[in-house]
Amino acid sequence: MMAVEAFAPAKINLTLHVTGRRPDGYHLLDSLVVFGDVGDRLRLTPEPEMVLDVTGPFAAGVPVDRRNLIWHAAEAVGWTGRIELEKRLPHGAGLGGGSADAAAVLRSLCGADAAKVIGLDTALALGADVPVCLTPIPQRMQGIGERLRLVSPVPVLNLVLVNPGVQVATPEVFRALAQRENPEMPHCDGWTCEAQFINWLTRQRNDLEQPACDLAPAIRVALDALSGSLLARMSGSGATCFGIYETPAQAHETASEIAARHPDWWVVHTQTEGAGQARRATT
Ligand code: C5P
Repeated sequence: MMAVEAFAPAKINLTLHVTGRRPDGYHLLDSLVVFGDVGDRLRLTPEPEMVLDVTGPFAAGVPVDRRNLIWHAAEAVGWTGRIELEKRLPHGAGLGGGSADAAAVLRSLCGADAAKVIGLDTALALGADVPVCLTPIPQRMQGIGERLRLVSPVPVLNLVLVNPGVQVATPEVFRALAQRENPEMPHCDGWTCEAQFINWLTRQRNDLEQPACDLAPAIRVALDALSGSLLARMSGSGATCFGIYETPAQAHETASEIAARHPDWWVVHTQTEGAGQARRATT
């Protein structure tokens, strides 16, 4: 039987506003999500039984049984077989983690129309970040992850991603939020050039950044290391932070400098996917 390969790009929340709370305790979000060109790699081979093999620099601690979301993703579409997952991204790190991997499995099994084939409710039941990761292009994500819409083309961004090697538990970060009802993003659309986009972005927030830094001060150190960027901010509930740089060369050079100063940190430079360049939506 033919094996298929899949790529689970890093999900990056350029903004993340916490706008309220649902009766079930989940928080309502308003977030501009983009995807990097670094990510986990998967290979799926049909077999009668489910088997998970995890390798790569961040394999440690990744479950190889039903506790792993990709197992449930395969089951949701009635597929069984061997899934080889090369974990290149830190997990529990604000980059999508298991949701990004589950979405990559669904894309490879159902094609570019995976969102329609499996339906929003099934995707959301797997994980709140699964729907947005099913179509890895810039999107505005609202609700707890079920309201998605495309925005004006987001410029391709040169980012440095920095994870200072601490894990912060998402529920704890939400619990540590001082203010649970913050304004939505104003006019998340309509920028016509990169400068205008960065200007707009600078005026937005990640409401989880302060509580995450309070829980894990190393995140503030990572943000300080990115202080020479156009904008430095945390992604998701952390601990990974991103800095935006004007050119790929600047991002490359900064990543090398930070990695030399902090050999125990995970540091990479990456370019984001521009809107309309859905080159990975089908893989
Ligand atoms: O989506 P994920 O499974 O990572 O969420 C873990 C926990 O984070 C949830 O059980 C909930 O406590 C909290 N959370 C939340 N609001 C969200 C997403 C997560 O309160 N929108």
